Amino acid sequence: MNKNKKDVGLTIKQIRKERGISQEELSKKMGFKDHSGITKIETGQNDVNSETLMELAKYLEVNVGIFFTGKTSALPEFKIIQYKDCYRDDMIFMVLSAEDALKKIPSINPDLLDVKTNYIDKGDMFWVAIGENNRVVGCVGYETIKPLEARLHRLYVKSELKRQGIGTALLNVAIKHVREKGYNKISIHTGDEKYLESKLFYKAFDFVEVAHNIIEKNI
Ligand SMILES: CC(C)(COP(=O)(O)OP(=O)(O)OC[C@H]1O[C@@H](n2cnc3c(N)ncnc32)[C@H](O)[C@@H]1OP(=O)(O)O)[C@@H](O)C(=O)NCCC(=O)NCCS
Repeated sequence: MNKNKKDVGLTIKQIRKERGISQEELSKKMGFKDHSGITKIETGQNDVNSETLMELAKYLEVNVGIFFTGKTSALPEFKIIQYKDCYRDDMIFMVLSAEDALKKIPSINPDLLDVKTNYIDKGDMFWVAIGENNRVVGCVGYETIKPLEARLHRLYVKSELKRQGIGTALLNVAIKHVREKGYNKISIHTGDEKYLESKLFYKAFDFVEVAHNIIEKNI
């Protein structure tokens, strides 16, 4: 099967993830200045010459031909939709399980009991990621804290499905939405040391710490 550069990029991403290699690690090996070079290849934004493909194949320990013939179906299927009350209980279950996986004692966030009142009716927004069998596999919402600043809340991904792009997809949906509303800043309270992976996640998207446990990014 011949593939276009988007499919080739997706195959590269899939192989990299199967090998547990981060974009940063691969960028370093390739001599790129940061992870964005890999992002552009994986999303098909950049043309990749044969020399670069050979290098990538070397570091991913595959034959270069697999980039053009490999299947691209291993990433989880999910869609992101605006929150609906029918997903409330499963979303709360997913969040409590995610907290448990962080070795925190799970406790219900009161805002999640009534997303409509706490987010939607205020003009803000909340999304859920829906996976196989109509199960909730992720969520995120935002609150307007200053006229043009959104504060993200409750970005969670089902623990068994982490590192497969669901968090990125949720973040991108939220950023796109608030950018279209004309906001110019997005910020997050990152929580205590148990939330280390979220700090690493946001670092990968160039958020910067502006106060203790508060990070932000101009959008
Ligand atoms: C933070 C969280 C939402 C990230 O979701 P995710 O679906 O795993 O993230 P993605 O797969 O989209 O990761 C995107 C990039 O972020 C970085 N990243 C994510 N998790 C990371 C980790 N544990 N260690 C290092 N980098 C990480 C990587 O650069 C990753 O890209 P790569 O996998 O291609 O290398 C998820 O880990 C989670 O739900 N954690 C528990 C709850 C939580 O901490 N929520 C945030 C509260 S502020």
